[in-house]
Amino acid sequence: MKQWILTPGSGFSRLQEREVEPPEPEAGEVAIRVRATSLNYRDLIIGENQKIENRVPLSDGAGEIIAVGENVAGWEIGARVCVNFFRDWNGGRFHGAYHDAALGGTVDGMLSEVVVFPAHALARIPDHFSFEEAATLPCAGLTAWCALQRSGFSGGDSVLLQGTGGVSIWGLQITVASGGWAIITSSSDEKLERARALGARETINYKTTPEWDREVWNLTHKQGVDHVLEVGGPETLGKSLASVSYGGSVAQIGVLTGFEAPNVSLFPIVAKNANINGIYVGNVESFNDFVRFLNVTKIQPVIDRVFAWDEARAAYEHMKSGAHFGKVVIAT
Ligand SMILES: NC(=O)c1ccc[n+]([C@@H]2O[C@H](COP(=O)([O-])OP(=O)(O)OC[C@H]3O[C@@H](n4cnc5c(N)ncnc54)[C@H](OP(=O)(O)O)[C@@H]3O)[C@@H](O)[C@H]2O)c1
Repeated sequence: MKQWILTPGSGFSRLQEREVEPPEPEAGEVAIRVRATSLNYRDLIIGENQKIENRVPLSDGAGEIIAVGENVAGWEIGARVCVNFFRDWNGGRFHGAYHDAALGGTVDGMLSEVVVFPAHALARIPDHFSFEEAATLPCAGLTAWCALQRSGFSGGDSVLLQGTGGVSIWGLQITVASGGWAIITSSSDEKLERARALGARETINYKTTPEWDREVWNLTHKQGVDHVLEVGGPETLGKSLASVSYGGSVAQIGVLTGFEAPNVSLFPIVAKNANINGIYVGNVESFNDFVRFLNVTKIQPVIDRVFAWDEARAAYEHMKSGAHFGKVVIAT
């Protein structure tokens, strides 16, 4: 079978295709024929990080079970599944040890024709999803879902989304389908139009309106938004704190502007009695709750483009260009 692997080197040319024997499931495991994978910003960071090598990349994929090991209950050949980002985080509180099995980072990921994983790591994909659509769930979709859950989101709440990448578009769709209302930012007016078509009530171009937090404040009648899905990191955190309402929540998810310390006052968090939650994807239990929600709401994920198997490097380059709206997928 074929798989892509990150070899030593730099740039996406270190992504190399190779032929290996298909893995067989042992007790407690299943083998999955992967049908589609998707990229996240993390995959760009890992792809360009020379320290991670000889690793099958990508946390996100969907496929069907083709073999079931001994002592596996509840899963059958033909079941349509995803694997959870943190392989061993089934439920409950997060532990540091779960970082030891993060797909496409500390263990091999999904950019492979066949993968083997423990049955406890699986989630059944929504009935109405194609494999390409389901491949958008494990990182971007579940992160947006968990961010809103941890923030205590309820119908009628307002949510601020930053940019039109995978997490933010998922956040927009979940907000709208749950009876909330969304303000979304983008560097592109054309992308903002598309976000409006998905149900965003207000849009702000963060390039032409660099003080976008003031605009958020005005659009909310000087109340601020109930929840912020903060994906920008150091350069946006200050404005997120200025945008959030009294008693509101900021879900700290991303690092699109880097890993440096933010140069912001922390006092707004205190003065507003606001919360900041660190969000790092989610567990299998949350994944199953999310799928239940999707089966009822019938949301269809936004796929920017599907690349063929042998265009994997082009998919990385496309993602890096920032031209995408929603998710970039590789068919396997
Ligand atoms: N903690 C977690 O569990 C978790 C999970 C998934 C992702 N993440 C993180 O969340 C972030 C987003 O991930 P993703 O996969 O959704 O990324 P992505 O799809 O690559 O999103 C990129 C988009 O973000 C927007 N953007 C870039 N810089 C921005 C800025 N300064 N202000 C506002 N928007 C900006 C741009 O949208 P426009 O083109 O519309 O301007 C860009 O196209 C990344 O830092 C990623 O590592 C974290």
